[in-house]
Amino acid sequence: MTKIKAALLGFGTVGQGVYEAIKSHQEKLQERLVAEVEIVAVLIKEPYKKREIDPSVLITTNFEDILNIPDLDVVFEAIVGETPSFTYLSKAIEKGCHVITANKVMFAKYGKLLLEKGRKKNVYVGYEATTAGGVPIIRTISQQLQVNDIQRVQAVLNGTSNFILTEMREKGLSFQKALESAQLHGYAEADPANDIEGKDAFFKLMILSDLVFGAQPDWDAVEVEGIQHITVEDIQAAKTQHLRYKHIADIYRYGRTLKASVKPVLVAPDHALYSIEGVENAVTIYASLVDKITISGPGAGKFPTASAMIEDFVSGYQIPRYQFTLNI
Ligand SMILES: NC(=O)c1ccc[n+]([C@@H]2O[C@H](COP(=O)([O-])OP(=O)(O)OC[C@H]3O[C@@H](n4cnc5c(N)ncnc54)[C@H](OP(=O)(O)O)[C@@H]3O)[C@@H](O)[C@H]2O)c1
Repeated sequence: MTKIKAALLGFGTVGQGVYEAIKSHQEKLQERLVAEVEIVAVLIKEPYKKREIDPSVLITTNFEDILNIPDLDVVFEAIVGETPSFTYLSKAIEKGCHVITANKVMFAKYGKLLLEKGRKKNVYVGYEATTAGGVPIIRTISQQLQVNDIQRVQAVLNGTSNFILTEMREKGLSFQKALESAQLHGYAEADPANDIEGKDAFFKLMILSDLVFGAQPDWDAVEVEGIQHITVEDIQAAKTQHLRYKHIADIYRYGRTLKASVKPVLVAPDHALYSIEGVENAVTIYASLVDKITISGPGAGKFPTASAMIEDFVSGYQIPRYQFTLNI
């Protein structure tokens, strides 16, 4: 059987998820692709960490080793930060590899450029996992809403913030206690700043903006407000009026510009995001023909994110290469 050679950049939560899911779902992958998917190399940063990786797999801290693998088909990227991820993926595309990324910080800034590079080299650039974790929102918009005029997108894009707000409302916890609970459950990072201050949701909103509107608003003009100042008293007062705080990322056309914000909003029971609870993410799309649809699911985590990356790869791999010029 034909082999699809894959390299994995990063072996943290997401990288391990991709590695394990490719093994556990090999039969399904072979059915779909009529080929065996094999992880042949893993790039990591810290060489002395103990890892559950087959001895046949090349483990390296040097990206050049990955580039030197003959006939490499695809690079799955799950490392952190803007650089060196952008450089690595640019080089992989240049070599003729498909690339699949989960890295929202990098993709919010360089996504358009990477897609352009992919088009030029006839390779697939998949970024489903960058936004809303396991929720297939990128594919829904790019493939199922091609004719609709999308007017607005509103979303809960950070599971940690949503979990904290839910805990505060349901259990009467203070912000600090709810944050500690999120950390105990493994939802929040040791440094949760990006989540609770709204930056994580901001990056995802900018990726959606590129996809939906073909452009991003001026980053400095986007109102970004976190949830850290919301008190349990605020939440309980809202509750008595049957309102809930939701941390909502919102973008819509305003004349010739785009208006975007990421901030806590009080919503009523008839709002599409009112019932999105805990670590769930959800995206509501307002469009000319369909009117309004909301898609929700797990916004992060090892296997939901791996699911997004693997499904993304399988869909992209099946597209005839000449068609990548049509990629959004
Ligand atoms: N966690 C989620 O649920 C989730 C969901 C959607 C998207 N994402 C995105 O997916 C990416 C990975 O997230 P994660 O949670 O898996 O992170 P993580 O657990 O911190 O793992 C990061 C991995 O990347 C490696 N790494 C970091 N910088 C590197 C570099 N410069 N060169 C080589 N390897 C490097 C680390 O190596 P060592 O193991 O040697 O330290 C580690 O294996 C991030 O961009 C994140 O935003 C995460």
